[in-house]
Amino acid sequence: MLASAGRRVVPAAHRVASILVANVRFLGSAFAQSGDAYVRVASLEDLRSRASQSPEVRAVKFDMKLDEEDADDIFLQEEGFVFYSKSKVIAYLNKCAHMSLELDMDDADFFTLDGSRIQCKVHGAQFCPDSGVCVEGPCKSKMLTPLNVKVDGDDVLVAGADE
Ligand code: FES
Repeated sequence: MLASAGRRVVPAAHRVASILVANVRFLGSAFAQSGDAYVRVASLEDLRSRASQSPEVRAVKFDMKLDEEDADDIFLQEEGFVFYSKSKVIAYLNKCAHMSLELDMDDADFFTLDGSRIQCKVHGAQFCPDSGVCVEGPCKSKMLTPLNVKVDGDDVLVAGADE
């Protein structure tokens, strides 16, 4: 459904199961600490190629490693996503700054139709891809949780990602 050019309006009542799980607690700040091991999550060449294609395929999702306390919880899942922007590789936790819900609809589609912003599918918040700051929507000025990224040759590595 389109409300205006480049913006999708998504029904607020979708993904009840995700809401139940995601509201258990917000783990964003637990990730990407300097002690976390870096794990390969994508190919740099692939991310560059995606950046020149449709915004719907621009990002690659990956699982985050849960801490020991949460590892046995089969309902708890944490994800990150990574993409190429302006000669940089950027990764965020897949968790909205508004209500700690996943930004996508489990389809790895994180961007507005024109590709200029990251958009949460739940209530439509829009974020600057480079800074992660919300520029429009219910969590204006709040930030997505950035993840530490390294590039080694063609390997894109994220701290705290699951192997
Ligand atoms: S959860 Fe409300 S805008 Fe993302």
